[in-house]
Amino acid sequence: MSIDERPRRPITDALRQTVIEDLPEVALIKNDDLRRKVVEAWAFALAESSFGRITDLPAEGNPGIFLLKRGTQADHLRGVTRVALSIADEFLTSFPEADIDRDVIIAGGLVHDVGKPWEFDPVNRRKWTGDPSRTGLPSLRHPVYGIHVCFSVGMPEEVTHIVLAHSFEGDFLIRSLEGNIVHRADSLWWAVAGGAGLLDPKSNGVLESRKISPRKLLNEGH
Ligand SMILES: [Fe+2]
Repeated sequence: MSIDERPRRPITDALRQTVIEDLPEVALIKNDDLRRKVVEAWAFALAESSFGRITDLPAEGNPGIFLLKRGTQADHLRGVTRVALSIADEFLTSFPEADIDRDVIIAGGLVHDVGKPWEFDPVNRRKWTGDPSRTGLPSLRHPVYGIHVCFSVGMPEEVTHIVLAHSFEGDFLIRSLEGNIVHRADSLWWAVAGGAGLLDPKSNGVLESRKISPRKLLNEGH
């Protein structure tokens, strides 16, 4: 089955509404067209997946790696967006002459993982793990599938770049200023979640390789 032949649900206003509910930071985007495209991108990605809404997606960095003990993917998307925005606002306050696009930061933070409904989809996972020699495992990582979503909804190039370059795919490129901020906010978010003991212990090996030692949570005793 080609990607274009996969079953897709209709993109309805009810589906778009779930995106607005799950990502309230969408309202911070000043540009009307960009705000609409962020909602459309998530609705498009969900409609091509088995997930009903963003909060149905597990709070994982990659399938099986970096799973939050509680919460959903919406907590990650919102957290990264707010961290990235706080970095931008710190510089815009101290150095008002700096040219940083807040709308691109917010949109990029909210859609940087828009390819995850595809990479995390249990139907896709079953197929890929069934015979990786046929399809690869995964066939495409979420930053790459995210580009398909962005092109399909007419996302501006500045935000599309952030989706592609937010993870190590971006190490092959010169990241934009806003792309660098979202990339670092994303990796910082996972590093802090890991260090604070918010991740499932299955991630401990990866944390150790990054020289991060998870602290116990307050309710886990000492
Ligand atoms: Fe992320």
